[in-house]
Amino acid sequence: MIVLGIETSCDETSAAVVKDGEEILSNVVATQIPFHAPWSGVVPEIASRKHIEWIYEVTKQALDNSGLDVKDIDAVAATSRPGLLGSLLVGLTFAKTFAWSRNLPFTAVDHMLAHLYAPRMAADDKPEYPFLGLLVSGGHTIICRAGGFDDITVLGTTIDDAVGEAFDKVAKHYNFGYPGGAVIDRMANDGDSEAFRFTIPSLHKGDHRYDVSYSGLKNAVINQLEMFKVKKGAHTNEDIAASFQKTAVEILLRALLNAAKDTGLSTIVAGGGVAANSYLRSRLAEHTHLRCIFPPLDLCADNAAMIAGIGYHYLIRGDRSSFDTVPSARVNGFKKKYP
Ligand code: KG4
Ligand code: ZN
Repeated sequence: MIVLGIETSCDETSAAVVKDGEEILSNVVATQIPFHAPWSGVVPEIASRKHIEWIYEVTKQALDNSGLDVKDIDAVAATSRPGLLGSLLVGLTFAKTFAWSRNLPFTAVDHMLAHLYAPRMAADDKPEYPFLGLLVSGGHTIICRAGGFDDITVLGTTIDDAVGEAFDKVAKHYNFGYPGGAVIDRMANDGDSEAFRFTIPSLHKGDHRYDVSYSGLKNAVINQLEMFKVKKGAHTNEDIAASFQKTAVEILLRALLNAAKDTGLSTIVAGGGVAANSYLRSRLAEHTHLRCIFPPLDLCADNAAMIAGIGYHYLIRGDRSSFDTVPSARVNGFKKKYP
């Protein structure tokens, strides 16, 4: 089955053609970064407008790159949640219109479940369910048990900011550049991660054993830097980046390792923009008793291949979304349920 995937949940306009859920025939991602960079963050109004401007050309390019004709598309999948409402509306409406006009089956899919599915599209030996999922992006930080492509149980989340958001806010405050995560990752290579010692929030007990918190770290790095200085003398921006990144990753690791230990799940599958982080990857690789699967960098960031990929599994099961499907900015299921 050949599925056309459409992704417009945030600031990437993307279309992809994927065969049988795994073989990526094309994956076109048009990034809006230069248009949001002057504001050091995504401006929702600009994002929606760019999606409207680009979605047709991006889809045409994806079809051309796949070597297929529009007649070869068997079904359409699009992101409907979570994300920026105006942005989601563009891709969702475009995809529904495409499906309706060609009389094709259509499915709306969840962006975060697609992030968790993405590594499967590239892995040589596919991780068997169940595994531990680590979903880390600009809006979410989720540690979950994945029992199937559409079956996750949230074990832990952030109790305040998402990890990617902390990277972005620190970068914005210090004018490091945009988007923050990738810039801090690069700068940290030339910095001393011991220059500042930020504290790790004590969330390791009871109900919060798998939860994380980033607002304290963000505040410490932005407003209380001097208090956490360990090494005397001048410090560089690279030192701030390295010390922040180290703590941000340690916070994540502590919750994740708690979950691995308690659940006995030894395969970890990571997804989302922050899964591109080199320090996170190298720190997890040290835990040799765990099998850690990260997507290649192009499948970490937002892309439509993962949307077509997961969409295929709904479609072959016979699931269809109706043409009155509406987008939603949030997904309640991604919040942890406390007893
Ligand atoms: O999944 P994604 O592309 O969009 C959302 O669904 O949010 O994730 C974007 C997030 C941003 O916060 C960005 O700063 C972060 O991923 N990010 C990184 C890296 N590359 C992107 N964070 C840390 N290290 C990176 N190398
Ligand atoms: Zn994403």
